[in-house]
Amino acid sequence: MAKTKVIAVANQKGGVGKSTTVFNLGAGLAANGKKVLLVDVDPQGDLTKMLGLRKPNDLPLTLGNVMNNIVAGVSGNEHPEIMQHHEGFDFVPGNRSLSAVEVCLVTAMSREAVLQQYVKGVKNDYDFCVQITITD
Ligand SMILES: Nc1ncnc2c1ncn2[C@@H]1O[C@H](COP(=O)(O)OP(=O)(O)OP(=O)(O)O)[C@@H](O)[C@H]1O
Ligand SMILES: [Mg+2]
Repeated sequence: MAKTKVIAVANQKGGVGKSTTVFNLGAGLAANGKKVLLVDVDPQGDLTKMLGLRKPNDLPLTLGNVMNNIVAGVSGNEHPEIMQHHEGFDFVPGNRSLSAVEVCLVTAMSREAVLQQYVKGVKNDYDFCVQITITD
């Protein structure tokens, strides 16, 4: 497979269409036959809700858990956090556990590379990896 394109959708301003963009970009790319992974990096879990999981905070395994594991130096080759959407793409749900990750990241070594490290470990199966990211 050709090199995966990684796209981050980020804007400090709220309510400007970040989650909507990621969802539609993912669905559109998948409809065009691309292998797509969407990653919800927002503690509000709005993208996760849009994808049909009404209660993100009830999910036992999300991006927050795997990022915490990376910070703790524990990361495996299995990725049970990756879910399949009926529109033909995969996604990693996010929820409020990402707020706890932010606290751990304050003192973590190479904190700016934790998400990158996660994406590096999963992206090879995909043409596109699109992340929704908040920046404040
Ligand atoms: N292109 C668009 N045209 C009109 N309305 C849009 C468009 N994109 C998104 N919206 C609407 O704008 C609102 C905010 O969109 P969205 O939730 O995607 O923004 P966000 O930047 O992710 O917000 P937040 O900062 O709260 O996470 C929603 O009601 C959405 O339906
Ligand atoms: Mg959003």
